[in-house]
Amino acid sequence: MHRSLSTLLLGLSVLVTSCGESRQNKAASGTIQEPAIMDPHSHASASAARTTHLDLAITVDMDARTLYGSATYAVQPNGAANIVLDTDGLQVDSVQVDGRPVAHTLGDSTLIGKALTVPIDAVTKELTVHYRTGAEAKALQWLSPKQTADKAHPFLFTQGQAILTRTWIPIQDSPGIRMTYNATVKVPSELMAVMSASNPQARTADGVYSFAMEQPIPAYLMALAVGDISFAAIGERTGVYAERSVVEKAAWEFAEMERMLEAAEALYGPYRWGRYDVIVLPPSFPFGGMENPRLTFATPTIIAGDRSLTALIAHELAHSWSGNLVTNATWNDFWLNEGFTVYFENRIVEAIYGEERARMLQVLGRQELTNTLNALDEDGHAHDTHLRLDLAGRDPDEGMTDIAYEKGFAFLKMLESKAGRERFDAFLRGYFERHAFQSMTTDAFLAYLQDQLLTPAQVEVDLKRWVDGPGLPADALVPTYEGFTLVEQQMDAWLKGGGTAALNTAEWNTFQWMHFLRHLPADITTERLAELDKAYRLSESGNAEVLAAWLEQCVRHDHDPAFPALDRFLTNVGRRKFLMPLYGELMRSEKGKVLARTIYQQARPNYHSVAVRSLDELLAWKEQKPPASF
Ligand code: BES
Ligand code: ZN
Repeated sequence: MHRSLSTLLLGLSVLVTSCGESRQNKAASGTIQEPAIMDPHSHASASAARTTHLDLAITVDMDARTLYGSATYAVQPNGAANIVLDTDGLQVDSVQVDGRPVAHTLGDSTLIGKALTVPIDAVTKELTVHYRTGAEAKALQWLSPKQTADKAHPFLFTQGQAILTRTWIPIQDSPGIRMTYNATVKVPSELMAVMSASNPQARTADGVYSFAMEQPIPAYLMALAVGDISFAAIGERTGVYAERSVVEKAAWEFAEMERMLEAAEALYGPYRWGRYDVIVLPPSFPFGGMENPRLTFATPTIIAGDRSLTALIAHELAHSWSGNLVTNATWNDFWLNEGFTVYFENRIVEAIYGEERARMLQVLGRQELTNTLNALDEDGHAHDTHLRLDLAGRDPDEGMTDIAYEKGFAFLKMLESKAGRERFDAFLRGYFERHAFQSMTTDAFLAYLQDQLLTPAQVEVDLKRWVDGPGLPADALVPTYEGFTLVEQQMDAWLKGGGTAALNTAEWNTFQWMHFLRHLPADITTERLAELDKAYRLSESGNAEVLAAWLEQCVRHDHDPAFPALDRFLTNVGRRKFLMPLYGELMRSEKGKVLARTIYQQARPNYHSVAVRSLDELLAWKEQKPPASF
């Protein structure tokens, strides 16, 4: 017999009552309401006084590397005597409530920043904060002209997820709190500004840009980029922004974007955000992509010249439903954003490129999951292999592993297979429709799943095991792709002395190359690696996924001829997903450690703070202070 969800939920609610008395809101009548959702990573709470709209008016000073101005909010007081915003490293100059100056307090510095508390009353309508960003604002990366593609102008971009928006805007920075926004941004007149909002397609004469986001969004989706940016259209509703030397290549690479958008709508309902554009950022962008609404931020490392890495665009587009429309209530529910998005991404890939390509990506994803599960298990972090996390007291970034993505995907794929695709699709369509512009907790999702899918379809699933248990449950499906078996057979023939002629690489696609490189035998010799590089010029590969997989093997097997290419890659690319395994592999030997530190010393100024934070820890890096003078 399967454990019914009501037992599961009952068990949980007992837990909440016994240890979370203070979480419950007592209404004026004294009756106890639903427990409020507690976000351990924000000082704000959706059930206290909250903001519903933001008017941002800021100036970007590219020389002083600071941004300053005001954030004016529409306030819903909810009977509270104070309103609380999140800040981190901001200088707060003054605060007004309904146009009158008031005294504010900035709380103690904590792991999640400082609370900005402002007295209000029951009729308060508006709150204005005048502020300036600090020198270490973690969301912001200020690039010198040298660090851009075109080398002529400086560049700025923000990265808000998970809790960095509070380093550039005083804001209620919880994924459970949504607001609409308007912004006026002043930049030097030779630059253009774009945001996660309605965007310009050309420069203005005075460098002043106006933006509107009419749909309510959580703070982590606030985003801004400033640079010498130009625009190229793709379809009616889609286009790309990038520096001049990149924009045409990007438009070619992402030519299928309009079709992806149509495929996504055909699957899970109308796109609710107006336009969908992508901005290709300079290579220091720390992620592959970031789903800022209406304007995905993307790394240039997905421009491979053959459209082979565009699944990333499908992924960020899919977040327009899973994540941006229905949003994880707290970072403990991160799998609701990413697991659903990997599933949806795979469905878009299947619709555009066919089901074989979808399976290739599933197999590669499962390999990554297996590696992550092993690593977390070895490090004694088995609880971080649960779908539902407990990140209270930790930087949420620490919980953002492949688990949410790939175990989340495996969970949904298992549900699809048990319920049947037709039923599952109808369920997902209903889920997005029903909860649009709302946040979702893991418990609320499980209750909805039980009610709307499992019970009516008479499907039995051990939800507790999947969501609050470690590892990968036994009823997970095992994805396969025959083209990878073929590659393994050819690799065997090559290793047995067949020469590189045994490798029919002319017919391999990017994913077969990745599979091949990930599966080189543990005892491969440096002569063998030299043979591969000579035949296929892997160190010069223009495909960042292939190059990164190749370089990882070169480091693992101490193949020094590839080290100049490694140095170049690590210095130019700031995408954390590539940096961590490469530096991690270097750190496994004494010689590698020396090389890692030498490269990092040079490259560190090119990386965004989120990559720096992870790498400083990996390399046990202490900021090099200039020698004390006598
Ligand atoms: N939302 C994430 C990026 C992110 C996650 C930023 C957590 C900050 C904290 C984005 O949608 C994402 O998942 N990007 C992936 C690409 C994807 C194809 C798996 C990436 O950046 O590699
Ligand atoms: Zn994602």
